[in-house]
This record gives sequence, structure tokens and C-alpha cells, in this order.
Amino acid sequence: MTASSKAAIAERLAEARERTLALIEPLDDEQLNRVYSPILSPLAWDLGHIANFEELWLVRTIGKREPLHGDLGRFYDAIENPRKNRGELPILRDAELRAYMADVRERTLQVLEEVEIGPEAESRPLREGFVYEMLLAHELQHNETMLQLLQLVEGYEPARGEFAMPPAAFPARPEMVHIEAGEHQVGAGPRGFAYDNERPRHPVELPAFEIDLTPVTNAAFAEFVEATGAEPPRYWERHGDGWLSTARGGRDSIDPGQPVVHVSWGQAEAFARWAGKRLPSEHEWEAASPSLDGTGFVWEWTRSDFLAYPGFEAFPYPEYSQVFFGDEHKVLRGGSWATHPDVERPSFRNWDLPRRRQIFAGIRCAKDAG
Ligand SMILES: [Fe+2]
Repeated sequence: MTASSKAAIAERLAEARERTLALIEPLDDEQLNRVYSPILSPLAWDLGHIANFEELWLVRTIGKREPLHGDLGRFYDAIENPRKNRGELPILRDAELRAYMADVRERTLQVLEEVEIGPEAESRPLREGFVYEMLLAHELQHNETMLQLLQLVEGYEPARGEFAMPPAAFPARPEMVHIEAGEHQVGAGPRGFAYDNERPRHPVELPAFEIDLTPVTNAAFAEFVEATGAEPPRYWERHGDGWLSTARGGRDSIDPGQPVVHVSWGQAEAFARWAGKRLPSEHEWEAASPSLDGTGFVWEWTRSDFLAYPGFEAFPYPEYSQVFFGDEHKVLRGGSWATHPDVERPSFRNWDLPRRRQIFAGIRCAKDAG
């Protein structure tokens, strides 16, 4: 790998860090340390975890350095420390936290100078710079988790326009696209960065189906709530005949043409049934993705459980996806306004518990062709 591609990695690491810091720029230390919800980490934990994950992989694993803070890393282990406990942990805070983030980054850049990361690299995590891509994706994905928490922070004024959903004018009655029956390839190919759960790429046989060209809008979901008395999305508050959004402590009007967001899997399912449709399977979603409009606003719930693909191999560690496989989690596809474009790809599989509504999840409906 050439010096210029190392420089490109360093630049992308710097950009991701600027984005992380821009997110918290309007906040004080008290807000960073506060526990807003038992299902979301305090922001200080996310920040320390981002730096600790970087230290673990880029400094300790490949740079063979000793940790800066002894066994502090155990408090940043996402599996060992459930979100509801993270506010109580003896984690780094305030100036010490900022110094740790900067010190880890300094060492990361030293190690980057030393290592061989070309296609011939001896260590598999280094081949094609995999571990650097993983670290970039990790930080950017935590930005999205932080944005979920920021929905609860009263008066949060984002420093960048990209930290809010852009306006949209999708139709309340979407057109549908027909996908022929046949074999489709799903998953990520062997080259380039992807997570273990996206591999291997493999064929699936699908009957003909139809899928909405655009996601379900706020207007359509409001109609469903009026017609059925169903529960509204999280952060909706009744106001006269309509609804207001209470996200970020506001009372803002809801844009009828934007995709509905903050709905659970159950709400998505119920909406689809009411509309005479159903949720797509994740394979249908991926097979149709070249024809789909309006992705990148909300994650889209699918009917699929989060399962291993045939021939799955955990890499580089089983805690990324393997421990979550089973019928407890449902797959979401696409990406939301809070997802950095570098993280989005048609094979990307997100997953969560079906009852969860803090994530930026919405709906796209499908139906059997016939
Ligand atoms: Fe993480």
C-alpha cells in the first residue's frame, strides 16, 4: 500500500473524528455524562468506547502497544456492559476523556506509518486495510447511535445540516415496482469492506413480488393511526387534529411528505397489513434495491430474522454479529438520514429487537405479485 493511500486513511479518520466532535459541540460535560434513557448510552460512554475500540484494534492488536489506561477497556466492552448500566461505570469523563481520544489517535497515526496494509499483508485484518475500514465504519455508526440519544436532548441545535432529516415530498400512496420470479444474488462479494454477516454472497430463489418505490410517509401513517387507533410513532404528540414532533424537546410540525420514523417492527407490520400489503423479506429488499427510490431517509424494517448466511464465518470477532443471530432480532435494510453514506450499501444488514423505536426505523411495503 502506498504512502498516498495511508494518507487517505489518515484523512478519513480525521474527517470521522471531526464529525463526532461536531455532534457534541453544542453540549456541555453534564449533558455528555447524563443518562437520558436506559436503552441508550450516555454520550461520554460512546466517545470513550469509540476511542477504546480504536486503541484495541489499531494500537494494541496491530501496533502491539500496551494500553494507555490498564484494563479500562472492560468498561467499554459493549457486550459486558448493558446500556442501562453504562452511566454508573467508572469511565473517563470531561477533560480526561478528550485527552484519551486525542492520545489514542496520535498512537494510531504512528502505527499506521509502520504497518504493511497492502493485499499481501501478512495479518488478515490488515489486508486491503480491512481493520481501518472497520474502525471508520465503527465510529460513523456510533455517530448514528449518538444521534438517537440526541433526540432526547432538549434544545439540541445541530452544528451541521446533515444532523437532521432532510425535507422530502414522497407520495402517501406509493407506486409499486414488479420484480420477476427467479434467482437473485444477495450478500457482499469477497472483495472490499463488508461485515462478516453480509458474506458469503449467495443465490436465493424468489417468487415474483411487488415492492413500494418509496417509503411510508408521515401522512400515510397518520391516516393509519386515525383509522385504527394504533399507537403513534415515538416522539409524536397529539395537537388538535394533527401531530407534533417532540424530538429534541421541541414541538415541531411534522412534515407529511417525509418518511415516518421511530416505529417498531410491530407498528410497521400492522401498517403494512392495514395497507393490504406486507413487509418485504431482506432478500426481496436487496433484490429490488437497484429499483428503489427514497432510501437513506429511514432504516426499513423487513420481515426477516437476523440469521447467518449459509457458509458464514465470524470475522474478525464473533461479538460483531454472531452472538445476535437467531429469531430475537429483525433485520433492517437501507440506511437513515443519520447514517453516513460511507456506511450504506445494498448488502448492509442492520438488526434490532422488534419492539425498539429509538432507532431511525421506518417502513417500505411489499406484496406477492398476482
Ligand atoms: Fe461499538
